[in-house]
Amino acid sequence: MEESAAKKKLFSAVQPSGSVTIGNYIGAIRNFAKLQDEYECIYAVADLHAITVRQEAAQLRRNTLELMALFIACGINPEKCVLFVQSHVPAHCELTWVLNTIAYPGELSRMTQFKDKSAKHAENVNMGLMDYPVLMASDILLYQAALVPVGADQKQHLELTRDLAIRFNNRYGATFTVPDGYIPKDSGARVMSLADPSKKMSKSDENPNGFVTMSDDKDTVIRKFKRAVTDSDSVIRYAPEEKPGVSNLLTIYHAFTGKSIAEAEKEFEGKGYGDFKLAVGEAVADALAPIQAERAKLLADKAYLNGIMQRGAESAARMARRTLSKVYRKVGFYSGE
Ligand code: TRP
Repeated sequence: MEESAAKKKLFSAVQPSGSVTIGNYIGAIRNFAKLQDEYECIYAVADLHAITVRQEAAQLRRNTLELMALFIACGINPEKCVLFVQSHVPAHCELTWVLNTIAYPGELSRMTQFKDKSAKHAENVNMGLMDYPVLMASDILLYQAALVPVGADQKQHLELTRDLAIRFNNRYGATFTVPDGYIPKDSGARVMSLADPSKKMSKSDENPNGFVTMSDDKDTVIRKFKRAVTDSDSVIRYAPEEKPGVSNLLTIYHAFTGKSIAEAEKEFEGKGYGDFKLAVGEAVADALAPIQAERAKLLADKAYLNGIMQRGAESAARMARRTLSKVYRKVGFYSGE
C-alpha cells in the first residue's frame, strides 16, 4: 500500500449482519471506492460489533466473507486501501478497554441506538450493546482517522468518539486525532423503503418488498419495484413531501443511472407508473449484475480472499499498534523500559 503523509486518513466499517441493501450501497459502500484515491482509506468488516445482537456462528462467518467480497466487487481496491476484518486486529478490543475507563455509563445509556436496540432485543440487552459506541470510537481513533463517512444514524456515535478523544487528550496529553464526519457530496441520495417511503430502507424491515439487496436477482428486483408504493396521482415528479414514493424511485434511478432528476422527470413525462417502475427496476438490476458476477467470482476463490484479509489485518495491526503503544505509555502501563 502507498503511504503518503499528505493524504488524510479516513476510516469506515460495515457490520456483517445479513444482507446489504441498495440503500447501504448508495449511501456507503459505493462511496468507499470513490474516496480511495483522495484519502488514505481504512475499511473494516465490523464483526465485533455484529455480535452485540445474537448471530448464528456459521452465518456470521459466511456474512463476513461475503461482505469482504462485496467490498472488492464494489470497487474497493485492496492495493490502495487497508481492508480487513475487525476481529483479526486485537488492538480494537485492547483500546476499547482503556477507553471504557473514561466513558460514562450515563452517556452510553443515553445513545439513541442503544435505546432502540434495547427495545427491539429486550431479551438480550447486554454490556456489549451498551459499549458498542466505545468500540466504534476505538476503531476510528486507533488509525488517527481525520474523517469518518457516516450516515445520520451514526452521527451520535461519532460525536461520542470526538468527546472521548478530547477527554483522553485532556487527561493524558495529545494522543488522538479528533475526527470529523464526512458527508459525501451527493448526500441527497437517501434511499427509502419501497413499501413505506416515509421510512429508511432497511434489511430488518418485516416486509421483504420494502428493500432490495445486493444479491437479489433480476426477477426479484423487478418484482419488488413493481410493487413499490407510489400515490394515486400519475405524475412522475420529484416532490419528497407530497410524493415520497415516486421521489424515492427517482432518487434510486438517478443513483443507479447517473441521470439527473430533471432528466429522469423528462424521460418519464406522460408515462404511467407501471412503465416507470419497470424502468427503475431494470436500471437497478442491470447495475447489480456485474457486481454480483464479480462477487461470485471472488467467493469462488477463498484463498485469494483469505490472502487479502491477512495482508489487510497485518497493515491495520501495524498502524493500530503505534497508537495503542502510545496509549499504554500515557496511562502508565509498564513495558520494561
Ligand atoms: N456502527 C456502524 C454501523 O452499523 C459500523 C461501524 C463500526 C463503523 N465501526 C465503525 C462506522 C467506525 C464508522 C466508523 O453502521
